[in-house]
Amino acid sequence: MSHDDVSPGHPRTVVVTGGALGIGGGISRRLAADGDHVVLVDIDADAAAATSGEIETAGGRCTVLVGDITQDETVDRLAALVEREQGHADVLVNNVGDFRPAKSFFGKSPPEQWRRLHELNLWHVFTVTRALLPGMIAAGGGSIVNVSTVEAFRGIPGNAVYSAYNAGVSAFTKSLAVEVGPSGVRVNAIAPDLADTPQTPADLMLGGRDPALLRSWLPAGRFGRPEDYAGVVAFLASPDAAFITGHTIPVDGGTLAASGWYGKASGRGWTNMPDQA
Ligand SMILES: NC(=O)c1ccc[n+]([C@@H]2O[C@H](COP(=O)([O-])OP(=O)(O)OC[C@H]3O[C@@H](n4cnc5c(N)ncnc54)[C@H](O)[C@@H]3O)[C@@H](O)[C@H]2O)c1
Repeated sequence: MSHDDVSPGHPRTVVVTGGALGIGGGISRRLAADGDHVVLVDIDADAAAATSGEIETAGGRCTVLVGDITQDETVDRLAALVEREQGHADVLVNNVGDFRPAKSFFGKSPPEQWRRLHELNLWHVFTVTRALLPGMIAAGGGSIVNVSTVEAFRGIPGNAVYSAYNAGVSAFTKSLAVEVGPSGVRVNAIAPDLADTPQTPADLMLGGRDPALLRSWLPAGRFGRPEDYAGVVAFLASPDAAFITGHTIPVDGGTLAASGWYGKASGRGWTNMPDQA
């Protein structure tokens, strides 16, 4: 029997880093609603308490751990909490990531910025995974879902370092999946684009432009909602995905598929054709 088939009705323990707000908040709420016991790790104590309260009001189970996931002491506290209270994690969602320390032309960006981007986007994916993986293997299996970005696959000006680390997240996902597949642990990732979250609020992204122009920005014609990403994470962590490992699934409203072939908002023509006067 594979781990994915184990004991229906028995709540899984799922760790969600950055599980309070944005995409991570959506993932915490969704997995708790599906019956999992969520261990929510977040740097923002108030937001974590609010999301945890929402989950419990809705009848779900949530344990909060407040801390900066880029710090070893937070990872140590997380590993100890999981071992003490649950024994092991069944699902790990490495969600924390941020492009914002990067707002600068690469040629002028300081190395301290690259270090912080490394910690925020890639380093903790290694440290948290290493802390929880042995417990998963000892338990016979589990599922890891990392959060990468479409910029791991498509260039973006001003964010070369951020995109490089996220390409690292997707490469780590592939190679680790090959390594731990025989132990029953699956490793996948999602690559979001254009989510309406505190990091990238819709209003800020629109910058005063007419929302009707979204058709010329992404094929789905709207920004993503946390639940759009959470649904795919829930699938990847579920028995329905028992034969999927090592992949990064874009959750992007079609932007990677379009690769420049966006429709004009008027419905006539395409944005990447030469402009006709
Ligand atoms: N927003 C997008 O459009 C988008 C696009 C591509 C990829 N992503 C990726 O999706 C993930 C989530 O993005 P989001 O937009 O929901 O982010 P967000 O900034 O809106 O929310 C991040 C959550 O993580 C917590 N957090 C931040 N730093 C932390 C730290 N050091 N330790 C612990 N908790 C921390 C925050 O308090 C918050 O709850 C990130 O990995 C991001 O790179 C987002």
